[in-house]
Amino acid sequence: MSPFLLTRTLPEDATGADLRADVLQGMTRTPKELPPKWFYDARGSELFEEITRLPEYYPTRAEREILIARAPEIAAATGARTLVELGSGSSEKTRHLIDALLPELAAYVPVDVSESALTGAAEALAADLPDLQVHALVADFTRGLALPGTPGPRLVAFLGGTIGNLLPSERAAFLRSVRALLAPGDALLLGTDLVKDPATLVAAYDDAAGVTAAFNKNVLSVLARELGADADPADFDHVAVWDGDREWIEMRLRARHGLTVKIPELDLAVTFEAGEEMRTEVSAKFRQEGVRAELAVAGLELARWWTDEEGRFALSLATAV
Ligand code: SAH
Ligand code: TRP
Repeated sequence: MSPFLLTRTLPEDATGADLRADVLQGMTRTPKELPPKWFYDARGSELFEEITRLPEYYPTRAEREILIARAPEIAAATGARTLVELGSGSSEKTRHLIDALLPELAAYVPVDVSESALTGAAEALAADLPDLQVHALVADFTRGLALPGTPGPRLVAFLGGTIGNLLPSERAAFLRSVRALLAPGDALLLGTDLVKDPATLVAAYDDAAGVTAAFNKNVLSVLARELGADADPADFDHVAVWDGDREWIEMRLRARHGLTVKIPELDLAVTFEAGEEMRTEVSAKFRQEGVRAELAVAGLELARWWTDEEGRFALSLATAV
């Protein structure tokens, strides 16, 4: 088995200045909100993997279908020797892409805030593919990435519809930063979930078995462990609503009754009124013209657009202009 490298550009624990600043800012404003990257501790990453297997959560299956069908075309179009993947999680679907890019592919660089997800994925890949250099980065992809100097051409993949978890202004900044990582001949492979009927969308974020509810509430366990917060998950309900104007699903935690959450590490007491909601995530849904326009603003040109058979999810291949 070839060893894999892991580079950490985040503090060892999540108690970094980042979490404190996000909680202080997000929970003292109206309406309250928290950024979604704090879902993904080891337990959160496990719960997300469970979500990907739920009958209601179609995006993973739809994106896998496209990857299986199009991986050879992607390989031929890009000739990538380095595959960088942002928010790589378990890297499970990525295997289809890696297999198609081999043997030219020299290096795979998975980037994620979840160290446990990265270690699991990198170990499995390094064991199976001893000739592939796996260089995992524990990093925040919204914070300007320094990538290892592996051979080009480079393909940057951002799958799972995770781009939809950024707000529009964050998305614009993010796409510009991705553009800056690309040299002539490099490409971006972007997965986006598509606008569809609200009932299908809401069910994907509010499943019958309650796994998504547990995932949403996991952020409270992160606050408890890292900042000593005494928020009890039983005091909150999971809420998923479709915002038809902004075309995104919004995930919230709703206080079941009036309560105060004490956060000793921040010397803070946060009051929730009965029924008050805190936004924990958005998941934007896209249309081809919107994707094309957002890419263009960032200096990227939509070169290929593929969907699954049912037209639920899209993969875009974009090049630097
Ligand atoms: N790509 C996988 C996982 C998607 S879930 C799939 O398609 O199934 C989103 C992933 O992005 C999680 O693994 C999470 O840990 C990671 N993530 C979320 N915010 C991040 C950030 N700001 N920087 C780096 N990784 C992040
Ligand atoms: N990128 C995934 C998505 O937007 C993340 C996700 C799926 C998620 N289900 C969730 C995030 C539930 C928070 C809560 O589909």
